[in-house]
Amino acid sequence: MREKIQAYLEEINASSPASAEEAEQFRIRFLGRKGIIPALFETFKSLPPEEKKELGKSLNQLKQAASEKVNQLKNGTSRSAAQGTPSLDLSLPGEPSPVGGRHPISLVEKEITGIFSRLGFSVAEGPEIEDDWHNFSALNFPAEHPARDMQDTFFIRRDPNDTSADMALRTHTSSVQVRLMEQGKPPFRAIMPGRVYRNEAISARAHCFFHQVEGLYVDEGVSFADLKQTLFYFVQELFGVGTKVRFRPSYFPFTEPSAEMDISCSICQGDGCAMCKHTGWVEILGCGMVDPNVLSNCGVDPARYTGFAFGMGIERITNLKYQVKDLRLFSENDVRFLAQFQSEII
Ligand code: DAH
Repeated sequence: MREKIQAYLEEINASSPASAEEAEQFRIRFLGRKGIIPALFETFKSLPPEEKKELGKSLNQLKQAASEKVNQLKNGTSRSAAQGTPSLDLSLPGEPSPVGGRHPISLVEKEITGIFSRLGFSVAEGPEIEDDWHNFSALNFPAEHPARDMQDTFFIRRDPNDTSADMALRTHTSSVQVRLMEQGKPPFRAIMPGRVYRNEAISARAHCFFHQVEGLYVDEGVSFADLKQTLFYFVQELFGVGTKVRFRPSYFPFTEPSAEMDISCSICQGDGCAMCKHTGWVEILGCGMVDPNVLSNCGVDPARYTGFAFGMGIERITNLKYQVKDLRLFSENDVRFLAQFQSEII
């Protein structure tokens, strides 16, 4: 029996089944219910005790060697691994790892800040949770004035008995203008991107949060002509040379005079389509000369300095550039939507 065990051990060590089928045959031959090793154990039972003592150990070793080999084969260790060579086939093609892309809102935000930085504007940011002063009062929204209803606000009540302690989710990035002017000395020339919130029902055309870019230029002698030229340049850069602009009188509490700027529809080139409601024009931003009250609220002398400001929605600009028809797509994180922008990694 000792010779038999030795021979089987050698056979096990040398065997290297090439296929799953051969490996299974190997298992059945040695370890199966009617296999070699169970049969040896059966014979072992009837051996005299001295022989048992001598052979028990080698029989167990044989069983272990067979089990180990089966495990190796199960774990996919192939013939070459059994012979000590790694089974890695370096000539096989690798598994591609998907590369992410920038979100379309980030892409457009980056493009906008890029254009203005070439005009010498720096980038500033402010908090999304604002106090009444920075979001409204400093911007010339009088208390209880209906102008506050222009934007439906999410308030955060800090003290149930005192509504004057309320904070708000900022309704526009104009609040950052105030912080910028309060913190520094003129001249100011900055662009302020960020997320804003409004208490709106979510639909294809409205959302309770979206993104804006605010612009501010305050110095001695800044005029409405500077505002027009700056925004004209911006539009040529963003939508292409030849894009027309027009300014319509408007009202904002923080600018005087105020205007809204339209561009010739970038989709139908002014011929008329659903995007421009067949007018050939689409509104892209609000703007105006900073109201002297706002300058003095922020510690800037309105007798010496003038300035212009503007604010635009990034989603709106993105819709025009990429014709996204439903605002909700921007916040749903659907990879099928987002992946369409992947080629534009910057
Ligand atoms: N804050 C305005 C809004 O959210 C946009 C705006 C209009 C910003 C005119 C300005 C401005 O700076 O001058 O609708």
